[in-house]
Amino acid sequence: MTSGPDGFEFIGNVLHAGPVNLEALAESCGTPTYVYNAGVIRQRISALQGAFAAALPPDKQPLLAYACKANTNGAILRLMAAQGLGADVVSGGEMMRALKAGIPADKIVFSGVGKTEEETTAAIQNEIRQINIESAAELDRLIDLHPPYPLKIAFRLNPDVEPGTHAKISTGQGGSKFGMPADEISNLMDRARRHKNLLPAGLSVHIGSQLTSLDPYETAFRRLADLARATGAKTLDFGGGLGIVYRDEKLPDLKDYAGLVRDILAPAAMELIAEPGRFLVGAAGILLTRITHLKIAPDRPILILDAGMNDLMRPALYDAVHRIVPVRTTTAPQMLVDIAGPVCESSDIFARRQTMPAPAPGDLLAIMDAGAYGASMASNYNSRPLPAEILVDSDKCDVIRKRQTFDDMIKDEIIPEWMAE
Ligand SMILES: Cc1ncc(COP(=O)(O)O)c(C=O)c1O
Repeated sequence: MTSGPDGFEFIGNVLHAGPVNLEALAESCGTPTYVYNAGVIRQRISALQGAFAAALPPDKQPLLAYACKANTNGAILRLMAAQGLGADVVSGGEMMRALKAGIPADKIVFSGVGKTEEETTAAIQNEIRQINIESAAELDRLIDLHPPYPLKIAFRLNPDVEPGTHAKISTGQGGSKFGMPADEISNLMDRARRHKNLLPAGLSVHIGSQLTSLDPYETAFRRLADLARATGAKTLDFGGGLGIVYRDEKLPDLKDYAGLVRDILAPAAMELIAEPGRFLVGAAGILLTRITHLKIAPDRPILILDAGMNDLMRPALYDAVHRIVPVRTTTAPQMLVDIAGPVCESSDIFARRQTMPAPAPGDLLAIMDAGAYGASMASNYNSRPLPAEILVDSDKCDVIRKRQTFDDMIKDEIIPEWMAE
């Protein structure tokens, strides 16, 4: 298993999350259920911190602002807070979650192209560390809001770099809706400097997610450092994007990633911020699901699961492929199957032509590496309740989100009185 010795491993014939038997867990908690292993998250944090500690002097250690969108469960955020991490948030809701989880306001960075006036006002009121702005219109808004203290702002550069990842998670190419060209940023920084309570202190960049090569980082970082030298910006927020192994991806060494930060960004910066998301939580979670039907289609069997694209949207949205493993190993002969969810969409497919030991209805499967952009993207589509979430931490095993009930799902709907009769 990619998650390592303390993550998800077979003990005997059954897959475990740390010491927790996933068959027993499915029995008591039902399926579909996300199961996270806190140990993996801590390992990933210390791997990243270790790489930066080895590459950079103590005064240049980046603040790790966890990109909450990857997994916003309050218990996961608390775990990040306990490890001393900050947060990168992209909505007022994420900001409130981060604060509620105990992440200090001075470690919270607010990114995103569409902050509303209410969200920006709340960010100012909460005195968060910095707002990363993405357009001239956002600067106008901040000027109009007259922050009552010198508010740190950073400008997001669009470095015009192809990140070499899926089109729907690429953000750094010219013409995307994210960031601004360098010359526009220079002008806006001059404008911002004329306002006493705006502190145009920094620049940010984030070129995409699930990156498997350092080359696009290198180009983006060079452009960011050039702009920092040209504008005098001293805080460089270099985003997230580090990929994880879903199948057989070859990933860059963390040492080389930290080396780029040391060689390119550190000489141009007084303060560094990183926004890792997927890298910290992706491999720390699985989606536990049961086969409801074995459908014999003309050309191949299709396993129909009780988890669907509403629970884990990545395959339908990004053509993502997750490894799927039976929770119990068997000696049944291998067969070729498709694996699908129950949702009425042809994109609700988790795997095509996968080889696995002949499965039977009722068998449990684990969809691996589902800790990032899994539960945080889940929806009620097809009126399917949100799945439960469970956190395993050494010998502790706790429900961190109850499975939604039918009543929970419809509780905010209002039937107009005239229809009630
Ligand atoms: C501004 C910003 N920072 C950080 C991230 C985190 O990216 P990842 O999960 O790939 O590390 C994202 C993800 O989309 C983002 O938009």
